[in-house]
Parts: sequence; structure tokens; C-alpha cells
Amino acid sequence: MVEIATSLLSFEKENYLPTIYNLEVAGTNYFHIDVMDGKFVKNNTVDRMRKYTETIQQVSAIPIEVHLMVEDVEAYSKAYIDMGVKNITFHIESCKSEKQISKLISTIKQNNVQVGLTLKPNTEIEKIYPYLPYLHRVLIMSVEPGAGGQEWKEESIEKIRKLNAFAYENGYDIDIEVDGGINDKTAPKVIEAGANILVVGSYMFHTENYKETMKKLKKSDF
Ligand code: DX5
Ligand code: ZN
Repeated sequence: MVEIATSLLSFEKENYLPTIYNLEVAGTNYFHIDVMDGKFVKNNTVDRMRKYTETIQQVSAIPIEVHLMVEDVEAYSKAYIDMGVKNITFHIESCKSEKQISKLISTIKQNNVQVGLTLKPNTEIEKIYPYLPYLHRVLIMSVEPGAGGQEWKEESIEKIRKLNAFAYENGYDIDIEVDGGINDKTAPKVIEAGANILVVGSYMFHTENYKETMKKLKKSDF
């Protein structure tokens, strides 16, 4: 089954409460929180994302997944564990050693939060393989992390395919999520390649009817 994670990054209006409600009613499976520290990527969304998370927790029962684009994964994952989110996904490029990655994975899991690893478009998918037995999901970036509204990179397809085949052959039951440039044209391609969670940002907010949009994107399911 294909699920939708709506990214609020491109939603910049002051009054976001009605939108949270509308997205919930429309059936978003997750709220995707893009935390940027101004170091790992240029943008800084730290305060805005904390505010979104607190508001969503107060008014909605939809699970929150956090995409950390930060240098200090330990500090930010601790902060989001304390906020009670469902999933925390961090960049393999933020880490200096295998030991550090394994430690972060187990700390997040010990706190009953699901864990994911993600990688930039130029990082090889094989780098993730040693951690697959311990992960709930892998997030494949189909744009450079740092901003919404960018064009989708076709090369992500090959990564999804490879990962999907490797996970299947080795019996790893993981979610494959894809993030960046997802719309009605790209969704069928990433789903066909094996992705089962789609992060949708700017495309969602350019459409009038969130429910129809989600239905259309999920229908790309084969
Ligand atoms: C990019 C973020 C994405 C992005 C998705 O760094 O991780 O979540 O904002 O937005 P769209 O769908 O506009 O590419
Ligand atoms: Zn993201």
C-alpha cells in the first residue's frame, strides 16, 4: 500500500491550523517535518518546524515523521524524541563513523521511536545496506536536501530499484520512502520502482483538493 507524507516546508502562510486539519481530513498518512539547521544545509527551519510539530501534536492524531537535515543528529533526535514523534530519519552524511550511526539508530529505537536513514542524491545506496536489519525505513532523496519545489532527479529510480531488490532478496521488511519533486508525473515511476511512502510538498499546495490529489498519487499504485 502506498502512503503519503505531506511536507509542510513549502507551506509558508501564517495561519496553518486549517491546513493541518484539511490535510488530516484528506487522509495524509504522516506529517513530514523538514528540520534544517543552517549548517548541514543553508536554510534554517529549526524554530518553524518545532512550532509545526507542537501544533500538530495538539490538534491532530496523524503521526509525525521527522527528516533531520542537521549536523548534530544526537541533539536534534533527542529533542524530537521528547516531543513524541513517530519516526526520525537522519542523513548518513551527517555521521563520521559506522559506530556513530549504529549508536544513533539504537538510541532512537530504545526510545520507542521508529528510525530511518537517508542519503543525498550523490551518495551510493550500498552505503545504507549494513544498517538495513536495524531500520524501519530508508528515505531516498530525489533532490538535493535543503529546499522544496526542486525538480525530481531521474537517477533516484535506479536507487529505489536496487534497494527494493536487495531488501527483498535478504528478507528485510523496510519502507522505502522517496522525497523531492513528487507529483502526478513522477509518482507512478517511483512507485513502480518500489517506493511505498511518497513525501509530497509543493505539489500538494498547488492543488485545490488535497483529498483528490492524494487519491490520484496513491492510485499510481500498480
Ligand atoms: C527537501 C525536503 C523535502 C521537500 C519536499 O530538502 O526534504 O521534504 O521539501 O518538497 P517538494 O515536494 O516540493 O520537493
Ligand atoms: Zn524531507
